[in-house]
Amino acid sequence: MSVKNPGWAGETGEFSHLTEADVRGTDFVGERPVEGGHPGGACSYPYHLADKDPEAPLFEGPYRERLDKILSRYPNKQAALLPALSLAQEIRGYVSPEAMAEVAKELDLSPAYVRGVATFYTMYNKAPVGRYLVQVCTNVCCNVCGADEVMEAFLDATGTAQGETTEDGLFTVVEAECLGACGFPTVVQINERYFENVEAESVPSILERLREEAAVAASSGARATAAEAAGQGREAPVAAGGSSGEPTSDADGEEA
Ligand code: FES
Repeated sequence: MSVKNPGWAGETGEFSHLTEADVRGTDFVGERPVEGGHPGGACSYPYHLADKDPEAPLFEGPYRERLDKILSRYPNKQAALLPALSLAQEIRGYVSPEAMAEVAKELDLSPAYVRGVATFYTMYNKAPVGRYLVQVCTNVCCNVCGADEVMEAFLDATGTAQGETTEDGLFTVVEAECLGACGFPTVVQINERYFENVEAESVPSILERLREEAAVAASSGARATAAEAAGQGREAPVAAGGSSGEPTSDADGEEA
């Protein structure tokens, strides 16, 4: 483990005795990344899905259970709108007007209300994105540490303009505001994973690593759409992260 970057959220070893199962339990939907850092961070990515499926039904099977679980935590349905939208995005990869309408129906809200909320937040994708959504923080701390160069390097290496998806469907690169890990600039969030201390020079190896990860997942049969993965609960090996340009933590994770 690198001294420069001890890992997710400043993990300094006090949780190193925990296994992934200790942290997140075993009753999750989907699969975790092939490599995702210390198991202590596992609580933040229990529902990572390799492939989104724009055609997948929303809120069926295990996803119905998760929606019910979400609803049980709030005083009324309206209050559960943000996590319900997140769940829809997790399944389909983005929140289309149709998905917004389905969420509205579930929560007894008007489609216009849901649309107003969903379009306010940039974290809800309004259009399909690549398998890996690369979000480069260009806010102040990262900016003074070379974020613009990192952004440029991602766009050059993928041959895309910001927001475009590569032809192979793997990458979409976008700019992000502060990702809340300002001590480790430049920070890049790729799907749920954080890559910290990223420099322009490390960009090709990060992309290569992700290509390999996608290839391994495809060849091992681990890739699955939301519908296929539901209830299967496959696990992949845990690998330690933490050095410059390595994935160090996973963000978000609504219901552990
Ligand atoms: S400024 Fe980049 S994470 Fe805060």
